[in-house]
Amino acid sequence: MGIDFTVLGIFTLFYLQILEAKPPHIVFILADDLGWNDVGFHGSEIKTPNLDRLSKSGVQLENYYVQPLCTPSRNQLMTGKYQIHTGMQHQIIWPCQPYCVPLEEKFLPEVLKEAGYATHMVGKWHLGMYRRECMPTHRGFDSFFGYLVGSENYFTHQRCYPISKLNLTRCALDLREGEEVAAEYNGSYSTEIFTQKASDLIGKHDQNKPLFLYLALQAVHNPLQVPERYMTPYSFIKDPQRRIYAGMVSAMDEAVGNVTEALMAHNLWNNTVLIFSSDNGGQTLAGGSNWPLRGRKWSLWEGGVRAVGFVSSPLLDKPGTISHELIHISDWLPTLVNLAGGSTYGIKSLDGFDVWKTISKKMSSPRLEILHNIDPLYVDIAPCSSDPGLTLPPEFAHRPVPISRINQSDSFDVRIHAAIRYREWKLLTGYPGCPLWFPKPGSVSSPQPSPQSPSTKAGVWLYNVEQDPEERDEVSVLNPKVVDFLLRRLQHHQRDAKPIVFPDDDPKCDPGPKGAWGPWV
Ligand SMILES: *[C@@H]1O[C@H](CO)[C@@H](O)[C@H](O)[C@H]1NC(C)=O
Ligand SMILES: *[C@@H]1O[C@H](CO)[C@@H](O)[C@H](O)[C@H]1NC(C)=O
Ligand SMILES: *[C@@H]1O[C@H](CO)[C@@H](O)[C@H](O)[C@H]1NC(C)=O
Ligand SMILES: *[C@@H]1O[C@H](CO)[C@@H](O)[C@H](O)[C@H]1NC(C)=O
Ligand SMILES: *[C@@H]1O[C@H](CO)[C@@H](O)[C@H](O)[C@H]1NC(C)=O
Repeated sequence: MGIDFTVLGIFTLFYLQILEAKPPHIVFILADDLGWNDVGFHGSEIKTPNLDRLSKSGVQLENYYVQPLCTPSRNQLMTGKYQIHTGMQHQIIWPCQPYCVPLEEKFLPEVLKEAGYATHMVGKWHLGMYRRECMPTHRGFDSFFGYLVGSENYFTHQRCYPISKLNLTRCALDLREGEEVAAEYNGSYSTEIFTQKASDLIGKHDQNKPLFLYLALQAVHNPLQVPERYMTPYSFIKDPQRRIYAGMVSAMDEAVGNVTEALMAHNLWNNTVLIFSSDNGGQTLAGGSNWPLRGRKWSLWEGGVRAVGFVSSPLLDKPGTISHELIHISDWLPTLVNLAGGSTYGIKSLDGFDVWKTISKKMSSPRLEILHNIDPLYVDIAPCSSDPGLTLPPEFAHRPVPISRINQSDSFDVRIHAAIRYREWKLLTGYPGCPLWFPKPGSVSSPQPSPQSPSTKAGVWLYNVEQDPEERDEVSVLNPKVVDFLLRRLQHHQRDAKPIVFPDDDPKCDPGPKGAWGPWV
């Protein structure tokens, strides 16, 4: 009988705790193209006092991975799945391509909405918009303020895109409130507009409802534009691109500070989980730096995929710590849905893991492997081999593999652009993208070309990234069993991949001289 009472007691306590613990507010801030070496807490010359303070008092994620490009990272954040499982292995969605993340995929805000959340989005979408059903307000967001494509002007909010089938480059507005065009923001800097919109949503939020706010900042993607005052502290930076970029990072840091202040001012902070993440590595062609990591945005080297990230929250069990556990952007969906008391039941073949205990309690990560990507169509659209004075070793000669010629036999076709991580090991195949080590900003040296790889198996690179995060010691010859294992894993994933969707531009996308980029079907 005694046991029964104890059990009953435990159940009652547990039940009361559930009643008491309200689902947390979730604020996800995604920066665009922010590089590893572009935050103060990684030793950058760029000052980020707000990010430094929040990461220091939260949990800094130092073994955290994203995808090398905008659309893929956002796609994985929203679905919890690898690109091979949505048919979106290749590149980004360009403004005139008639496709979006498959409509049968359930997005994070949809699942959170089912769990009772108010769901709001501010900023960059980039997950397709050729028809209305693809837009944020049709994919789980109660409200949306932001833009649908990418690379716009920060002040005019216009995006110029060459529509080759029409022989013209169209410059058109890309800013919307819900589904309606928002034309009255010409001249206002997007980092400030988005911060204001996010703060307004926080201010108006009904405290009795849990909040999911997804703030996908335009900063710090090119074009390089910033109000003068943010650049003032950076007169010491000689490189004009890096100087403007530093100002943009400062504006973004202030944005994060303002949003956290708003959460505190409106009494939400006590029950908030704030996540900050970059969407991919920095673009060295536009002021970004991933030093000392190799490569850059668009590549599968660490400089393309290892991201700045942290979680800040009064709900963390072990705040003020640094996590070296393996975490991937696809992990947020199951992590946040479980935290919200929601359910991922019914979402088929999730690739993400619930990493809340890993982050909050310092438990080991349930994740052992990351499939960085497999993309047989890969083309480096800004190849570093065309940088003046640079010749890449022949092993980096770039040739996309025609799908019809992909080797369907038992072993993985190593001509394919792919990379996979397993525990400390990382294997890359095909042409992984720009393989250079870009020097520390401010130093006089030029990018270091890669040494000739000792690899006997052409097109295969193996690194122990735990010991060698800069990917300098290629060790495939010394570890043939690891190479075989990882090639088998790649082959397993490739067999499981959906066919790539990457349609030609549809000239009907043209919004005309006075229109705005948006749905045309
Ligand atoms: C576009 O330009 C090319 C070459 O200048 C020409 O052959 C073609 O007819 C033009 N197409 C249209 C739609 O104007
Ligand atoms: C935006 O403002 C600039 C500067 O005032 C002006 O030149 C431009 O025509 C405006 N653009 C639009 C689309 O109104
Ligand atoms: C942050 O808030 C201050 C004070 O309201 C404001 O002046 C500043 O423009 C805001 N910063 C951004 C990036 O929105
Ligand atoms: C936050 O929680 C602390 C400790 O429970 C409490 O003292 C404080 O008043 C709370 N603050 C707000 C703004 O709710
Ligand atoms: C396909 O793989 C098999 C076995 O590894 C190999 O013998 C063959 O040459 C490959 N074919 C192509 C086109 O690479």
